[in-house]
Amino acid sequence: MEYPILRKEILSESVKLMVLHAPHVVRNAKAGQFLIIRVNEHGERIPLTIADFDREEGTVTIIFQEVGASTLELGEKEVGDTLPTVMGPLGHPSEIDNYGTVVCVAGGVGVAPMFPITRALKEAGNRVITIMGARNKELLFWEERMREYSDEVIVCTDDGSYGRKALVTEPLKEILEGNAENIAKVWAIGPTIMMKFVSLTTEPFEVPTIVSLNTIMVDGTGMCGGCRVAMKGHQAKFACVDGPEFDGHIINWDKVMSRMTFYKKQEHEALVRHEEEHCRLDKQIAEMSV
Ligand code: FES
Repeated sequence: MEYPILRKEILSESVKLMVLHAPHVVRNAKAGQFLIIRVNEHGERIPLTIADFDREEGTVTIIFQEVGASTLELGEKEVGDTLPTVMGPLGHPSEIDNYGTVVCVAGGVGVAPMFPITRALKEAGNRVITIMGARNKELLFWEERMREYSDEVIVCTDDGSYGRKALVTEPLKEILEGNAENIAKVWAIGPTIMMKFVSLTTEPFEVPTIVSLNTIMVDGTGMCGGCRVAMKGHQAKFACVDGPEFDGHIINWDKVMSRMTFYKKQEHEALVRHEEEHCRLDKQIAEMSV
């Protein structure tokens, strides 16, 4: 079976959106879950969180950052191209309930997996405060979509080019200082360092904090061991089979962050191979046109 790309959008520098026709995936998709995609028959498995889905149309939206050879190859696909593998939904869905007031913190590309969670929380009756963060204005996307399902949105940029010049933890701390007993839960999705500091910010206020570790997954199979999450005083878990969401207060963040450097060498080698293949094809095309 082949899965056609119905829509492609460039959201910001190196971040792309694709809408895929994959009815079997959307039938049971829920906020917080992920998919496994392969760009070609022999390609590596890429775990990507579900950014949106439409059950009637049978479509699923993915948003990805071109950070390695496989995501670069995916980014080169165009509308009308097909993907050989779109598998899912995988992982445990977010625990959605009417908690009262919740805060959703989304950093960088983390806005994509946070969107369906924010929507589900709002639809469940919560008052939703959203904090969005990006390095600069150009890297920010889906603000309007987040506003649609939030009672309040605070936008922060590192360089102050849009919204407030701050890290997401600053407005979060202010909210907690003024109103911690009324904040039932915090969700945080974004760079690992951001999720670590969000968890450290909420811990003294004892506000339950959920983070999504989809970014540490390697192949999403439960077998490679690449997404092992060390927990303080608990057994280690695997992001792809036990998660991707976990209690941010019991994660051993230093170990998670050091694991993320494990595959740097292989990722670099794959990137070099991708570039070499491109140069070889460019050369062939140039020779043919002589
Ligand atoms: S990604 Fe390989 S075990 Fe989880």
